[in-house]
Amino acid sequence: MAVRAPRLSPRFPRFALSALCLVACAGPAPAAHDAGVDAPTPTDLGADLGPATPDVPPPPPLPAIDGVAPLDDLNPDPRILEVNLTAAPARVRLRSTVDTDVRAYNGTLPGRMLHARVGDRVIVHFHNGLDEPTTVHWHGLRISDQMDGSPRVQDPVPPGGDFTYDFRVPEAGTFWYHTHVNTMYQLDEGLYGAFVVHEAEPPPFDRERMIVLDDVRLENNGAISPHNASGPDVGRGRLGNTLLINGRAEPWRVEIPRNGTERWRIVNASNARTFTLVFDDGSPLRVIGTDGGLLPTPYETTRLDVAVGQRYELDLRMDDPARESRTLQTLVSVLAGDGGIDTRAFDLVEASIAGEVSPRPPYVAPEVRLPSVEPSVTESLDFNLSGGVVNGRVEFTINGVAGHHVPDGGHGHPMLRYPQSQPVLITLRSNVSPEHPFHLHGQFFQVVAPAARAREEPGLKDTVLVRGNQPVTVLTYFENPGRWMYHCHIAEHSERGMMGEVEVTLRNR
Ligand code: C2O
Ligand code: CU
Repeated sequence: MAVRAPRLSPRFPRFALSALCLVACAGPAPAAHDAGVDAPTPTDLGADLGPATPDVPPPPPLPAIDGVAPLDDLNPDPRILEVNLTAAPARVRLRSTVDTDVRAYNGTLPGRMLHARVGDRVIVHFHNGLDEPTTVHWHGLRISDQMDGSPRVQDPVPPGGDFTYDFRVPEAGTFWYHTHVNTMYQLDEGLYGAFVVHEAEPPPFDRERMIVLDDVRLENNGAISPHNASGPDVGRGRLGNTLLINGRAEPWRVEIPRNGTERWRIVNASNARTFTLVFDDGSPLRVIGTDGGLLPTPYETTRLDVAVGQRYELDLRMDDPARESRTLQTLVSVLAGDGGIDTRAFDLVEASIAGEVSPRPPYVAPEVRLPSVEPSVTESLDFNLSGGVVNGRVEFTINGVAGHHVPDGGHGHPMLRYPQSQPVLITLRSNVSPEHPFHLHGQFFQVVAPAARAREEPGLKDTVLVRGNQPVTVLTYFENPGRWMYHCHIAEHSERGMMGEVEVTLRNR
């Protein structure tokens, strides 16, 4: 299949600049993502794929990331990451005593990591070794819609077929990739992996680690349990009985020298589970990055909800002289003996002290400016996330419409359309089901209301958790032209209709 390189006008309209910022802005007259060393410029979005920066000296090697192995780079050009990726059935060891038949990328669960530097060109020679169609979606990357793996834009790759994904990574951050066809099965059975884009000048740490979280429902013999077509598996989304960290059903035990300083990157790749992270000693998690990369201002929280699809980056310091270990845990509700609900803490990463290094100076956030817009130019939109039984079948809806994987929005309702860089306030409500992690492809947004959530969940996001009866408003910037899916990231919900599509059109100038 031929690769269609996107061709866009080099002139990109910008937001109206104003000192009247609707969201926090870090100085006078900022432009969208302006300034900071790693901030993208709008011309990066879906831009021409020319030769990768000729005549500049090769960049220093990327910092290594422990936890998942990177894919081999086949291209000698340091500004091009070129990899082979195959989706196929595989047999892996998730639990220590039994093997599990999964579907995976290149035979491992999670798939191996794509590791690039901001601005790099990424070429992925993808082969479909499954017996059904699939695509690969690069969750969080603001690339061309032609490369986004949306089955509404790209014909799915047939069994035995190939497709070359080719794009430039416009911004640094922790992203991930996953199937976007028959997702409730293909994703649950293992078709996901991490995708890290490093800053041009990454902040210094002693070590970086990747923590890919998932859960899976396993039978005693190691087989993945059959999916139920009704009941809580559909209503709530399928929860597993086995937590996985980097594809292993046991805590990751690591050694860190005293005063060691590490960058931990967290991805929630599960079908439906929100991971609520805490440290066993009650010490705060220091959050330095989220979906859209490093934050202008890090923050601390003793409890971090990581919804399906979301990413966070932590600054981890083993600097408490009184402690020999620190364990990252997730809180899980379990059925108690008396039929009630108990909360139990499960260990994810057990860090113990080994050796000592001299302390690094405190982490300094890079200069990152978040987009700012004039309130008078924003439009607003309400999305009611709901569901019900339609023709004897459970369907999930946005504003009463179930939109499936079909072109033009599905069910004949018109696709949403906005001109490029039209800021839109989207208020998300769920009055029926408990929660929906809402994801928008190809764009970033910020949580702006209620005020407490805007404060507690700062930064650029592509996924926000919509809890039952707690509306949340995000400000979306729609900077990246193209056709973009939005959907609940609980695969059981999106595949049953909780999805739609928006077209961001180039402005005529
Ligand atoms: Cu991570 Cu449309 O998805
Ligand atoms: Cu949902």
